[in-house]
Amino acid sequence: MNVDGQPMRPIWLDADGTTIKVIDQRRLPHSLEILSISTVDQVVDAIREMVVRGAPLIGATGAYGVLVALLNSRNDADFLDMCRRVKDARPTAVNLAWAVERTVAVVMRGAARADRVALARQEATAIAEEEADRCRRIGEHGAALVENLSQAKGGRTVHILTHCNAGWLACVEWGTATAPIYVAHEKGVDLHVWVDETRPLNQGARLTAWELGKAGIRHTVIADNAGGHLMQHGLVDMVIVGTDRTTCTGDVANKIGTYLKALAARDNGVPFYVALPSSTFDWQLRDGIAQIPIEDRSADEVRYVQGLTPHGVGQVLVPPEASPAANPAFDVTPARLVTGFITERGVCAANEAAILALFPEKKQESSVA
Ligand code: MRU
Repeated sequence: MNVDGQPMRPIWLDADGTTIKVIDQRRLPHSLEILSISTVDQVVDAIREMVVRGAPLIGATGAYGVLVALLNSRNDADFLDMCRRVKDARPTAVNLAWAVERTVAVVMRGAARADRVALARQEATAIAEEEADRCRRIGEHGAALVENLSQAKGGRTVHILTHCNAGWLACVEWGTATAPIYVAHEKGVDLHVWVDETRPLNQGARLTAWELGKAGIRHTVIADNAGGHLMQHGLVDMVIVGTDRTTCTGDVANKIGTYLKALAARDNGVPFYVALPSSTFDWQLRDGIAQIPIEDRSADEVRYVQGLTPHGVGQVLVPPEASPAANPAFDVTPARLVTGFITERGVCAANEAAILALFPEKKQESSVA
C-alpha cells in the first residue's frame, strides 16, 4: 500500500536474498523504522515481541524464517529444530504453523543445499504473494457488502467499526478487515471507520488509525468500551474484524475484546462480519472455545501504556506498582454471533456447511478431525 506516495509492505526479502526486512510495528505511528532480520533468534523475537504481528503477516514471516533457518543451520536436525522454534513463537494464529509447515515440506524435497535455499525463497515469496492476492479478493467481496449498505442508506455515510489491526500491516497488502474498506473507498463509497483503540497494545489506535490516515479514510479512534453505546444509538452500520484462527465450524479467535463487540452487535441488530483468507481456517478444530490455544502475554503490556511524550516515545505505568495484572491476548467469538465470513472466494454464513461449500477441497480434512 502507499505511504506518503511510496509503495510499502510490512515485509520483504532484501536484494541479497537472505535478509528479511520488516517494518517495526512497535514504533508506529510515531516513527517508521525498518529492521533487518538474518538469524533465527531475530525471527522468533520479531514474532514474539510483535515487531511483526497479525495472522497472515506472522505466517509470511514464519515462511521467510524457514529460509533464515536453512541459511543458519548445519544439518537437517538443526534446521528442523530451528523451524520448530519459529513455528512455536506465538500460539494462536494458525497461519504461522501453516506457513512454516508448508515451506519446510517444500524445502525437504530438495537434495542439494543450494536447491533447498532456492525452494525456501520461492515458497516464502509465494506465500506472501498469495496472502496479498487473497486479501485483494476479500476486499472486492467485502466492498460489495459496504456498497449495499450505502445504497440502503441512500448514499449517506456507512459507519464501520473495527477492532485491533487487521490492516495491510497485519497482512502483506490490503488487510483482511480493512480490505473492503479500502476497496469501497476507492469506489467512492462515503464511509467512516470507528477504530477501537484495542488495549492493551493499542493496535487500533496506533496501527489502524495510522493506515487509514495514510489512505485518506475518515476515521475516529474510540475507547474499547464505546462500541456498544454507539451501536445503541444507530451509529454503527456494520462491524468487520479479522481473525487469528477460525474453526471449520465457524468459531472465531481474534484480539481480546472481539467477543464483546459481537455480543453488542447481536443485541443491536448490527451485522458482524469476519474477514479472513483461507489460510486462517483451522480445518482440524471444531470447538473454538475448547480447542483454540489462547496466548497469555506479559502483564506489563497491561500495566504500562506507550505513547509520545514531550521527550519522545515512552511508557507510563497506569495501575499501582503492586497490583497484579493479567493479559489474555485473544478471545473466541462463537459462530452463532457471526453474520458472515468474507473470504477470497466470497461471503458465506458462519457454519460448517456454508464454509465447506466455498472450500469443498477441505471436506476431507475437516471430517478427519
Ligand atoms: O496480537 P496481534 O496484534 O497479532 O493480533 C492480531 C489480530 O488479532 C488481528 O485482528 C488478526 O490477526 C487478524 S489480522 C488480519
